[in-house]
Order: sequence, then structure tokens, then C-alpha cells
Amino acid sequence: MHLLPDSLCYLNGQYLNLCDAKVSVLDRGFIFGDGVYEVLPVYGRKLFRFEQHMDRLERSLTALRIANPLRRAEWLEHLRTLITSLADRQGIMDQLVYLQVTRGVAPRDHVMPAGIPPTVFLMTNPMRQPTPEQRRLGVACVTADDFRWERADIKSISLLGNVLARQISADSGATETILLRDGFLTEASSSNVWIVREGVVCGPPPGNLLLEGIRAELLQELCATAGIAFQRRPVPREDVEAADEILLTSATKEVLPVTTLDGRPVGRGAPCGRPGPIYARLFQAYQQAKKHQSI
Ligand code: PDD
Repeated sequence: MHLLPDSLCYLNGQYLNLCDAKVSVLDRGFIFGDGVYEVLPVYGRKLFRFEQHMDRLERSLTALRIANPLRRAEWLEHLRTLITSLADRQGIMDQLVYLQVTRGVAPRDHVMPAGIPPTVFLMTNPMRQPTPEQRRLGVACVTADDFRWERADIKSISLLGNVLARQISADSGATETILLRDGFLTEASSSNVWIVREGVVCGPPPGNLLLEGIRAELLQELCATAGIAFQRRPVPREDVEAADEILLTSATKEVLPVTTLDGRPVGRGAPCGRPGPIYARLFQAYQQAKKHQSI
């Protein structure tokens, strides 16, 4: 059995020990997966790209017709209370905050019940970053058909499709499952995917088939600053297979190089099967952004 952490969390207006936090079995999050979430990185006690995460939370809540239960200043206050608690009690400065809003508790009925208070849950955990070896050598990924639903743009807690997708790579000892729908790249089970071809960083256009990562906009900004060309366009499988470099981005992976795809080394030229030069530049740029964009 996994030991549950005993850090402070927030549930429906109360701060309590994570082990003691309980929700009703009739919570629609439990019954239907009827809720949304966010995952925010914290560096040196400071939240990274807080406003952008709050904007996306707002979009996800709107898609579910749930009114945002807290004002932005309240979200910030609660998040900071938890971050400070973990930092002060356990000395953990780099953290990963998880927040979740479900529609609330009601008798089981698919129709959205009106006027029930949403369930609001927040916790923070130590940040688990890629290992030095993963940074040095890159990671292995496998590809699979994207069999998820067609509203992957909502950061929904209904993650069965993503769980099944992730397990495909876990079963073969790989780090991520890169998904293709009708032969075109969408994203990975819990990351966005970018290819590099002839110096251009390229990812699929935003839309309903993928989650627009907070790091998508950030990557575009980092590319602009570094003078690297950046494109969003449909990416067919051939382009993924012929890429010079493949990159994953997410709150935890930041930017991470994929050096093996379906058992074959990524890239054709000199650094074949090794992290490439665009990765190296974007990784450095990301580390700078962490210092300057955290609040
Ligand atoms: N996952 N696509 C999917 C399906 C994701 O689950 C995630 C993030 C991303 C990247 O988004 P961002 O840059 O905002 O982290 C893309 C988070 C980390 C998770 O579920 O744990």
C-alpha cells in the first residue's frame, strides 16, 4: 500500500490534513468524473504562470457550466497557504499544486443539477522533476492511436482515456505515449508534443482534440526570444518519424527531449538518439523564465 502524505490541504472552505479530507460518495466527481482540475508548478515557493493557469481553469469551468467558486485572489491566498505550510514544515521549496473543482454532491442523475455548491479541493506535493539522466539522455516514447473523446481541450478529471494511453508506454518501460488521431499528432497522455525540423519548432494547432498546455504559449515566447522559428500546423505521422528532435512539455517535465520513438532513435544527423541543440537552448530559456515569471 502507498503511504499517503500528511500535508495540509484545502477542502470546501477548510484547511485540514490530507489524510483526513473526505468527500461524499455522491460527489459528481466520484460518480461521473464531472469536474475539472489544474496542476501548477511552484519554484522556490513561488507559483509559475499563475494567471495563465487561472485563465484555463475559467475556460474549463465555463465548458462544464460551473461558476468559478472562488475569486482569483482567493485561489491565490489558499494556494499560498498550502505552499507556505509544505515549505515551512518540510523544507520543500519546489512543489506541484493540484486543484480540483467538481460540480458538487447530488443524487445520481446525468442532468446537471442546478444550484448545488461545487466541491473545491487543493493540495500541494513535492515537485517530481525529470531525473538528471533523463535530461542528459532524453526519454523513450511510444506512439498509439488517440482513442480519447473529442473534448480533450477541457482539463477534465475524467482521465480514463489518458490513463489507458499512459499505461501503454508504462507497460514497455517508456516515459510517454504520443497520440495520433487519423494519422496526425495530437499530444501525449499528459504532455504536449513538439517536433523540430530544420530548426523550426512545430506543434499541432490548438483545438478540441488536445489540451492547450500552459507551456504551449510559453514555448512560443521562449522561441521568439531565442530567435527560433515556431509554427502550429497539422503534423502528420511522417513528420513525427522524420523529426530532428521531439520535445515534450508539461508542468512537471518542463521541456524534455524524446530520444527514442517506438524503439528507434530520434533524429538523423549527428546527435541522433541524443538530446538536440534546440532542446538545449529551450531548456536554458525555460530555467530563466522560472526565475522571472513566478509570483
Ligand atoms: N498534465 N496535455 C495533457 C493531456 C496534459 O494532461 C497536460 C498536463 C498537458 C500539458 O499542459 P501544461 O503545460 O499546462 O502542464 C498537455 C498535467 C501536468 C497532469 O495532468 O498532471
